[in-house]
Amino acid sequence: MPQARRVGHATFETPDLEREIDHWVNVAGLVLAERDGKRAYLATKVGQLVVELHEGEQAHCTGLTFEVSPKTDFSQLAKDLAAEGVSSALSNDMAPGMPRSLVFDDPKGTRIQLFSEWGYLGDHHQVGGVGPMKLGHVAFVTPDVQGVTKFYETVLGFRVSDWIGDWFSFMRCGPDHHTVNFVKGEKTHLAHIAFEVKDMAQIATACDLLGAKNIPIEWGPVRHGPGHNVSVYHLDPDRNTIEFYIELDQMKDEELGYFEPRPWHRDLPQRPKVWSSDTSQIWGMKKQR
Ligand SMILES: [Fe+2]
Repeated sequence: MPQARRVGHATFETPDLEREIDHWVNVAGLVLAERDGKRAYLATKVGQLVVELHEGEQAHCTGLTFEVSPKTDFSQLAKDLAAEGVSSALSNDMAPGMPRSLVFDDPKGTRIQLFSEWGYLGDHHQVGGVGPMKLGHVAFVTPDVQGVTKFYETVLGFRVSDWIGDWFSFMRCGPDHHTVNFVKGEKTHLAHIAFEVKDMAQIATACDLLGAKNIPIEWGPVRHGPGHNVSVYHLDPDRNTIEFYIELDQMKDEELGYFEPRPWHRDLPQRPKVWSSDTSQIWGMKKQR
């Protein structure tokens, strides 16, 4: 069965490609690495592809990519997926620097592409916006949180890091506390996409930059309970929620089973658990909506 190692990039459909490119470049601080008609590819300042934009009718997140082992045999992988009832197809037309992928849909209709080869898109760049270091996690609202969580466990090798009640799961595929999360809601849509920044000073710089551009901060700065990241959230012009964060919990050894000890942990050691809704924020500004 495939074992996702990290999230690669997220694909968004947008009715206004130019407006979205402007936000991702000048506010989020990504680099427009390639432009191809009605598609745009945006990378971090170190050159990793993190966002793909397609011009289309509806603003929504359509797909995610995950890196798998370089030793992966894609035809065997397709057979393993078929054994789980998942039909997939090999694609040789993916994104710049990624020659091939195995494509299938997850149960909530998000297109998943697994890849094992990728290349940097250009050298290091100076950026004008926030300039995150990496894409960290992507969160979705979806009606069947249990079903989608189970799929990511059995089909993509994710582990559950935490639940809030029975309505919010946090899942890891590497040391990061979560790379995907799923929260219960009536219809499937993106909850937020989250990028790691360097330190608290960069969180403050992000807040100042949003303030200077009159972009409201939707939530934060806040230290979460599950994951314990310090986060700040805003909306892009398509109303996609973008999070910048630092200090996400790390599980460096799966066998030990606890997150690296941190002064803000209330459980000693901090292990995966079920949180109650009222303990899910350690400190910080409440949500504005
Ligand atoms: Fe998040």
